[in-house]
Amino acid sequence: MPRPLVTVIGAGNVGATTAQRIAEAGLADVILVDIVEGLPQGKALDLAEAAPVVGHDMRITGTNEYADTAGSDVIVVTSGLARQPGMSRDDLMTKNAGIVRSVVKQAVAHSPEAILIIVTNPLDAMCHVALEASGFPPSRVIGMAGILDSARFRSFIAQELGVSVTSTNAFVLGGHGDTMVPLPRYSTVGGVPITELLSAERIAALVDRTRNGGAEVVALLKTGSAFYAPAASVAQMVDAIINDRGTILPCAALLNGEFGVTGLFVGVPVKLGRKGIERIVEIELSDEERKAFDHSTDAVRELVATLARLAS
Ligand code: NAI
Ligand code: 2OP
Repeated sequence: MPRPLVTVIGAGNVGATTAQRIAEAGLADVILVDIVEGLPQGKALDLAEAAPVVGHDMRITGTNEYADTAGSDVIVVTSGLARQPGMSRDDLMTKNAGIVRSVVKQAVAHSPEAILIIVTNPLDAMCHVALEASGFPPSRVIGMAGILDSARFRSFIAQELGVSVTSTNAFVLGGHGDTMVPLPRYSTVGGVPITELLSAERIAALVDRTRNGGAEVVALLKTGSAFYAPAASVAQMVDAIINDRGTILPCAALLNGEFGVTGLFVGVPVKLGRKGIERIVEIELSDEERKAFDHSTDAVRELVATLARLAS
């Protein structure tokens, strides 16, 4: 039986690190694609040459041609531009929408049964672009953000309580932006909600740091954004899909009435398996959590409306 095949589009920081994680975990063969000639080939060669030392037999290849990606089981989209000096948020959104639309159309033409994982920002809006460009059912278009945001929350909780990160669990829902919704009531250490372990002030500080998690890394790096934790998060989604695990993970999914929202990609808990999103898991929200979720949903709706306005 052939090994699973994952195409990663964009051989930059997130894309190359994602390829490394997938291959080194032995999940699948990987094809790296980029618009820059030589970049995906060079990074793939370097990763392939690390394989004997790491001890895996996954094949990693680089290409600028979508025909080489044919028959992929999963396509990860990380291609895009970072905001340049003088470029507005709207300019960035238009440019990245153009890139995502173009790469998705080319990739799905060769892999019509694949599952799409979208990473490019602004995440929630790019999921809409990918859904439309692919013509795929919503179950096969999934955005990565919630795992990353929840991982940040988990790492801060573990640091605060001096416990292993492996004892923590957390859910961050909503859009991937300032309005994201960390849920302390559903965030636990050894199964105990952090609301029973930490003061309201400390929880508020951790929630705030989680909301600013991406910006905190950018402020330190100065020339780029986070990629290790994002790549690890994508690899977890790939593992859930390729190995048909049925893992419950927070991901951006197109809602169809769940959580009272229709026709919008929002971060919610989903069951991920070989068919993509197999179920959206609805959880009960308190009045305060509901208000924060609605606020975040409004922000995503506005983002998508801006995208539609810019496109018209
Ligand atoms: P990067 O600049 O290192 O890499 C982007 C790559 O995309 C570059 O190699 C570039 O040549 C390539 N590219 C541009 N246009 C292309 C096209 N038409 N076809 C193929 N490749 C093309 O950026 P990085 O750090 O890897 O981030 C990638 C994207 O992921 C950004 O939009 C970033 O904001 C987003 N991101 C999203 C996260 C999330 O939680 N959803 C987390 C981290 C990053
Ligand atoms: C992050 O949260 C840039 O969206 C990216 O780090």
